Amino acid sequence: MARAIWSGSISFGLLNVPVKLYSAVARRSIALREVRDRETGMALNAVRERLEAAIDARADELARDELDRRLREEVVDVTLPSDAYHRGGLHLITQIRREVEDVFLGLGYRVVDGREVGTTHYNFDGLNFPEGHPARSPLASLFLDERTVLRTETSPSQVRTMEAQEPPVYVVSLGRCYRRDTPDATHTPIFHQVEGLAVDEGITLADLTGTLDFLLRALFGESRRTEFRSHYFPFTEPSIEAYVSCHVCDGDGCGVCRHSGWIEVGGAGMVDPALFEFVGYDPERWSGFAFGWGLERIAMLRHEFPDLRELWRNDLRFARQF
Ligand code: DAH
Repeated sequence: MARAIWSGSISFGLLNVPVKLYSAVARRSIALREVRDRETGMALNAVRERLEAAIDARADELARDELDRRLREEVVDVTLPSDAYHRGGLHLITQIRREVEDVFLGLGYRVVDGREVGTTHYNFDGLNFPEGHPARSPLASLFLDERTVLRTETSPSQVRTMEAQEPPVYVVSLGRCYRRDTPDATHTPIFHQVEGLAVDEGITLADLTGTLDFLLRALFGESRRTEFRSHYFPFTEPSIEAYVSCHVCDGDGCGVCRHSGWIEVGGAGMVDPALFEFVGYDPERWSGFAFGWGLERIAMLRHEFPDLRELWRNDLRFARQF
């Protein structure tokens, strides 16, 4: 009987009460053992029974109260929404990188890795940069020693790819580039490019503009118009720059496009025969095109944020928008 209290379902804060009652019962039991006459025995037995019954009743009552309290307080509403599970996300540049990769994988290109730490041989010589070109200066590029340079563009991947295989070549190579620029709204010393290279028989400028047109529409939507203008790069001849109609004014002219209606997205051109000679391809047989665009530029044009440095600040209020 008293055991029920000890093993009890009664909370600890209430333990005092049964302990006292238990002692009282124990004392009665001892008293009962020493009793010899019937009358006293019966009286004491009656007391014991009443005490035991009272204790049982009280124990039940306390257990019931405790159960009621727990049912009341420990209710779980399974219909409530659970805590939000915060998933991480990919950085905007990584998203765009993957998107561009997808576009070119869909066109049958291969994605190849380049090297972030390169040599002047691949970064400049192989790309037909003349001696004394400003990009060869330590004021413009980040050198580790006289011959070792952090790549200033993804274009060296063109030379390495052509050295490693025979044509036809259809590759893109994406990744980080480094230039000795002071960070401002449109420059950061580390940035990303996508390089593309196609070499085959009979490739023409029309193949290049068709491919870039496809990429521009994939990135910026079907309604954007594209335009190509002539330009100069040491490793392409002829060279062009791609423009897309301004997303703000749709070509009418505004502050964002410097009142021209067009925004430049990157360089391209027909691979200069000097590169084919450098890697041992026959320039009489093969022709090709190449292009190199900045991923940060694509991100800015697409999402209309005014300062490139936001991409490095890691402010979640910015990053979570994409
Ligand atoms: N590498 C050039 C740059 O960083 C971009 C570029 C222009 C890449 C023309 C090319 C190309 O492959 O054909 O400004």
